Amino acid sequence: MNTLTLSRRALNLLTSGSSLPTTSCLSASPSSFVQSSHLSTIRLLGRDYPADEETNVSAHLLKHTDRLLHLQKQHPLQIVKQRIVENMQAKYLWNNRSPLFSHYDNISPIVTRAQNFDELLVPGDHVSRQRQDNYFINKDLMLRAHMTCHDSDMIRSGLDCFLTTGDVYRRDTIDRTHYPVFHQMDCVRLFSTWELEEFAQDPKNFKAFADEGSPADPNIQSCHTTEAVKIMEYSLKSTLIGLVQSLFGRCKYRWVEATFPFTYPSFELEILYNDEWLEVLGCGILMQDILVKSAVPKKVGWAFGLGLERLAMAMYNIPDIRLFWSEDERFLKQFRVDNIHRPIKFEPYNNYTSRARDIAFWLPANFVENDFYDFVRDKLPRDTVEDIKLIDNFSKGDRTSHCYRLTYRAWDRHLTSEEANHIHDTLATEVTKIGGVVR
Ligand code: DAH
Repeated sequence: MNTLTLSRRALNLLTSGSSLPTTSCLSASPSSFVQSSHLSTIRLLGRDYPADEETNVSAHLLKHTDRLLHLQKQHPLQIVKQRIVENMQAKYLWNNRSPLFSHYDNISPIVTRAQNFDELLVPGDHVSRQRQDNYFINKDLMLRAHMTCHDSDMIRSGLDCFLTTGDVYRRDTIDRTHYPVFHQMDCVRLFSTWELEEFAQDPKNFKAFADEGSPADPNIQSCHTTEAVKIMEYSLKSTLIGLVQSLFGRCKYRWVEATFPFTYPSFELEILYNDEWLEVLGCGILMQDILVKSAVPKKVGWAFGLGLERLAMAMYNIPDIRLFWSEDERFLKQFRVDNIHRPIKFEPYNNYTSRARDIAFWLPANFVENDFYDFVRDKLPRDTVEDIKLIDNFSKGDRTSHCYRLTYRAWDRHLTSEEANHIHDTLATEVTKIGGVVR
């Protein structure tokens, strides 16, 4: 492997008496890897939003907001979505006629922090709120980090049983299973007491809510009765096993205890896939406080959420999450099926040479790794970087240096060594431009 720890071009820039400061006095400004910090407006889905010091949406990301892959006919994500909707709607009918669950897949991804966090009871200091993990448009608005963010509004609008599908946005590393935009489905089912009654031991005396002062069961919310939770948990788990088996056939599965701020108790479902346990969804009994705040204090309910990419990658053997964004016919044509239930095995077509190069630099103040990953995506478009790994980390005095190994590739051909060098030099120059010190 050709390793270039010291970018020659970057070093030249530093030492050639250019207007750039010299190494010794170079100090990068705080969060200087955040590209959007200088913008005054952010154009998103046809509208301008004022930017402020909270803005961290990247140019790379903005290009993805209008693709709506889950609405693109015969796209693998759209096919999986359709199969899930069909399964849920066929299983639950109202008056034996119309589907109980309604489905919404065109809700704007621009939400308030209150929708994404507060309404779901996410504590103020919860890790999921961090700037380094979310894309903020400004201090009020963000790109949703999960589809659960619409649950309160949907419930408040009068819906008891619904599914939502959409694109969600999270800052993360660069590799074959992570992409800053992916797709989720969320589902809520609410019950009135009388709907649970028919499954109770003694329907006449059944109660969904615990009497005040009754002994507390630590495994459930104190306002619920154990029997109501048992009935709901059975309904939730059998729904989900049915759903997963409709996608994967008969497979081994297990329930794992989980923690989400918006459900208690909470679970994750894992299936045995290619000899490994694969987590496929999160779920639980909705926190009553959410229902109280959504104006349905007398109902109880369950919810679940799942990622479409993860399911589709397993179902169709798709090896890289970035393939979903491909406009290459060789990818798309493999999913042009007349029947969405037909088994599909994706045939890889782009096993091209990739090339690794290393870059090491002194970290600017307030550095977070996700800032660097977004920077790389912005500066090297078309997902040229296949993978990025921190391979070395050392401190000298009050300075810290990181060394990253970047694997470069082209999507439609082998990458030559010269091309990789050129791409790598471009990146080193960009790092230098923003005041980073390439070692
Ligand atoms: N929102 C969760 C996530 O993105 C997934 C989830 C878990 C959704 C439990 C739910 C739920 O509706 O009940 O990881």
